[in-house]
Amino acid sequence: MTDGRFCIAIDGPAAAGKGTISRAVAARFGFAHLDTGLLYRAVGMKGGDPIAAARGLCEADLARDDLRSLGAGEAASRVAVIPEVRAALLAFQRDFAARDGGAVLDGRDIGTVICPDADVKLFVTASAEVRAARRFAEIGEGTLAEVLEQVRARDARDMGRADAPLKPADDAVMLDTSDLSIDAAVAQACALIAATLGDQRPR
Ligand code: CDP
Repeated sequence: MTDGRFCIAIDGPAAAGKGTISRAVAARFGFAHLDTGLLYRAVGMKGGDPIAAARGLCEADLARDDLRSLGAGEAASRVAVIPEVRAALLAFQRDFAARDGGAVLDGRDIGTVICPDADVKLFVTASAEVRAARRFAEIGEGTLAEVLEQVRARDARDMGRADAPLKPADDAVMLDTSDLSIDAAVAQACALIAATLGDQRPR
């Protein structure tokens, strides 16, 4: 950590638990949190030219109440393959990561592209079946089979794209939450971060 800056990158596939872990970690350590998926969801839902939407993204776009829907997730993963869209969202994410007082960013490419020098990198996973069940319980939209199909399609698109594909950074710590309660997953993430913060304090 330099100048009170400490950056935590949390990546992983849809509904693996990134959001819950990120919010809990941010609250525990007093860091700011950015859910970068919301940026892509907002671009996807804005309609029209996605590149123009990404370049002109504003607070009101991020305040829509339909950004958590299945449709928004699908729209997000479609615009997320466009390199110009990703480029337009890069500076905002890097500025957020560099803020004083610490930052937690969760997404798909935080540890690999946005913050390759992050102090802690976590890659949160779970089986597709577990993730679909969680997402289904969370949003109560469609059927479980439809949600599972969408989770698989989104995984394939996110991992298969040429620009910033979803993959763990070489130095990421893997956290498989398939058989973990949310409290246990949060505890593991917090222990890892506390150890790293401790390591960086002057001896
Ligand atoms: O909450 P969930 O994990 O389902 O999705 P999200 O994090 O809100 O991300 C929605 C979609 O945005 C993903 O499927 C990715 O295609 C895209 N995304 C991305 O490409 N890069 C990021 N840093 C965050 C999201």
